[in-house]
Amino acid sequence: MSGDTAPAAGRKDAGGRRVIDTSVAHSARVHDYWLGGKDNFAADRAAGDAVMAAYPDIAMSVRANRAFLARVVRFLAAEAGIRQFLDIGTGIPAANNTHEVAQSAASSCRVVYVDYDPVVLLHAQALLTSSAHGAIDYIDADLRDPQTILSHAARTLDFSRPVAVMLIAIMHLIDDRDDPYRLVSQLMAAVPAGSYLALSQVASDIEAEQVAESARRYNQLGRENLSMRSHAEILRFFDGLELVEPGLVPVPCWRPGSELEARARSAVRGGVGRKP
Ligand SMILES: C[S@@+](CC[C@H](N)C(=O)[O-])C[C@H]1O[C@@H](n2cnc3c(N)ncnc32)[C@H](O)[C@@H]1O
Repeated sequence: MSGDTAPAAGRKDAGGRRVIDTSVAHSARVHDYWLGGKDNFAADRAAGDAVMAAYPDIAMSVRANRAFLARVVRFLAAEAGIRQFLDIGTGIPAANNTHEVAQSAASSCRVVYVDYDPVVLLHAQALLTSSAHGAIDYIDADLRDPQTILSHAARTLDFSRPVAVMLIAIMHLIDDRDDPYRLVSQLMAAVPAGSYLALSQVASDIEAEQVAESARRYNQLGRENLSMRSHAEILRFFDGLELVEPGLVPVPCWRPGSELEARARSAVRGGVGRKP
């Protein structure tokens, strides 16, 4: 895989499998720490705490992003009629995983999860419990190798029918040197008209100073490098797509289910676009 040579992909054993390296913080485990999970190690908690010291709202921010994910999946399955989901950057299972939300709206939904983290892979079995009418698969792969993802996903998803490509809180982990816009356009080129892109990432222009300092701290301690992007830079991921209302907004403002949800603070911007 193309990304395997990059340091962010992590170490591998003699058999080519990625190993769990507890000495350095990994985004999946730090994210789990902020969500109150148990799948994290001292290095992850140290990085998580360093970020929190610079940006105290981080836990609220990642929870707001998680709530955005659930609202987006519900919208796609219940309102937009989407029955196929390609969720890249799955994370360690938490509340409201994509297949749970999608299949509760329509039990025939088919979901393919993709992540490159060995701890997420360990949890894959828990993610693979599908409704009788739907299907779920898990691919251990790197977003920087979209062709591998697409060829494996084709075992479960029918690429002649609409697919929702989900890139939720992953693009800030993709460096500009890895050409993130090309990766997204390759994925969207593989899906037909009527498909959707759901994307969120840390913004460089919300709570800018605190977020920049927290990223600087994370980048000293984490396996991956954080790349925050401005509103205009995130909007570019949706080039050629029709943005669904309310557009690209701080995630609490994307179709909030309650006043409480809308009032959460988050430095993550997200949106949903439809391929015409
Ligand atoms: C911050 S978590 C987000 C989890 C989930 N999407 C959510 O929003 O709750 C980012 C996830 O992306 C995964 N990830 C980061 N870079 C990746 C890459 N190049 N290929 C595949 N997965 C990646 C990490 O392992 C982690 O599980």
